[in-house]
Amino acid sequence: MPKKYVIEQDRDNCIGCGACAAVCPDNWEMADDGLAKPLKTEISEAELECNKEAAEGCPVNVIHIYEVDESGNKKQII
Ligand code: F3S
Repeated sequence: MPKKYVIEQDRDNCIGCGACAAVCPDNWEMADDGLAKPLKTEISEAELECNKEAAEGCPVNVIHIYEVDESGNKKQII
């Protein structure tokens, strides 16, 4: 089974800077309320790099990515 990755965004603390949507437009867009939202919260390994860049570029660190194994155990990557 391929590895699965889950994205969590602490949206309450997003300041709408737009960095995530700029570096990873494949999965991040700015919503009508001015805050970012991910198009998908479950991503494949192939989609990881782009989303990691989004997380790394967020100035308030509200994007986190977890690796989920077959048993459902979550390990935080960023
Ligand atoms: Fe918000 Fe961070 Fe993106 S502040 S707009 S989640 S880069």
